[in-house]
Parts: sequence; structure tokens; C-alpha cells
Amino acid sequence: MSMRMRKKRNFEARMEACNELLLAQGTSGILNMKEAAENFRALVDFERAFGNGNPVALEIGCGKGGFVIALAKQNPDRNFLALEKMSNVVLTPMEAVKAEGVQNIRFLNIRAECLPCYIPEGSLDEIYLNFSTPLPKLGYATQRLTHRNFLEVYKKLLKKGGRILQKTDDRDFFEFSIGEFEACGFALEKVTYDLHERGNPEWNIVTEYERKWVERGLPIHRLEAVFKGE
Ligand SMILES: C[S@@+](CC[C@H](N)C(=O)[O-])C[C@H]1O[C@@H](n2cnc3c(N)ncnc32)[C@H](O)[C@@H]1O
Repeated sequence: MSMRMRKKRNFEARMEACNELLLAQGTSGILNMKEAAENFRALVDFERAFGNGNPVALEIGCGKGGFVIALAKQNPDRNFLALEKMSNVVLTPMEAVKAEGVQNIRFLNIRAECLPCYIPEGSLDEIYLNFSTPLPKLGYATQRLTHRNFLEVYKKLLKKGGRILQKTDDRDFFEFSIGEFEACGFALEKVTYDLHERGNPEWNIVTEYERKWVERGLPIHRLEAVFKGE
């Protein structure tokens, strides 16, 4: 994703028009996950945000949102939070959700580092990490979304038995993630290095990035990490 992306035409007015879907925006001044972990504030009230008490899942880095929108349509009795740090990017799925009248998605235009400010502890069933920016291990490991500093916060946000579902094309990042999940006491299930080996499984919702890599013939890695509770 280009850092110098041009703002979309009429950006402010279009964001404003989707305002009822946006639960949070900005940085909250939180700089890293260590700091975040000491700042649990849980500002979002799910019952109020969604108008019901259905279970809530979170996608971190939703991009254009094709995945979370398809998942939400398949599961009208579940609620979905779509988090994306780039406001110019998150506008696309917000407009789609509004236009299509999808009822069970709300957006957080924040960095993942700010999650504890908004999400109550022990409140999520699932966290989806689809093609998270891999970032080089050298020098940037602590910013990877599966670094143990992040996993320790996800553990606080998840219900006991909740799970993290990760997909990536980046083998180094995948293997790093496996090590971090294990170090943090998650139980790994359904680990595959080639999700599309025999074609796309019928249950799998292909994301925008996934489509790109699959078309280039790259294998997709996937795992589920279960939080057993401690
Ligand atoms: C490579 S894209 C993948 C998009 C989408 N999930 C897909 O699979 O097509 C990664 C996305 O994560 C977002 N992202 C990266 N780091 C983030 C962070 N720390 N907090 C929130 N979003 C982040 C980026 O802005 C980008 O939209």
C-alpha cells in the first residue's frame, strides 16, 4: 500500500456520510503495543454499537474489505469489527457496507496498537489477520502484528477458547508467527503451507491480496491459533 496515496475525491464529505459506521478514528497517542497493554480503556460498547448482543469478531488490516463484507453477509447472526489504519483505504469498505445495507459491520480507523483503548477485555470470539504487512524481521519484528507484544494483547481481548485466524503468502513471517503463537501459549490448529493446493476450499473467502498471490502461483499459508485461557 503506497504511503503517498492521493486522497480520494471529496474524501472528508464521503467519510462524514459513513460516520455512523465508524466507531473510532485517530491514534489515541498510543505508540506501541507495550504501552497499549498498560492502557486498557475499552471505549466501545458493543451492544450500543451493533444494537444487539451477538458475538463479535475483529479483522485487523481489512484493506478494501472484501473478506469481512463476505463473511458478515454469510453470518448475519455475528458482528464484525473491521480495523484499518489508513483512512483513505477504509473509506472503500465503509461506502460498500453503507450502499449494500450490511447491518453487522462497524469500522475502526485506528492502528492495531490502539486496540486496548477501544475493545473490552474478554470480548472477542475471533481475530482475523489476513495478509498483514510482513515487515522485515530485522529491526521491525516488534511491529509485526503477530509479535508477542501484540499476541499478549490479543489474549486479553479474546474470550477463552477464542481464536486467531492468520493467512499470509510470506513464509518467513508465517514461521515467525508460529514461533510467537507457541511462545505465548496458543494451540495451533489446521496449519497449512498451501491452502490452495487442491483449489480454493469452498469455505475459504479469498481476500484482495490473496487473489493477487494465487494468480501468480504463490502458495498461501494459513493457521488457526486457539487461546485456551490461562
Ligand atoms: C497487505 S494489506 C492486506 C489487506 C487485506 N487484509 C487483504 O488481505 O487483501 C495490509 C493492510 O493492513 C493495514 N495495516 C498494516 N499495519 C497495520 C496496523 N498496525 N494497524 C492497522 N492496520 C494496519 C494496511 O494499511 C493494509 O491495508
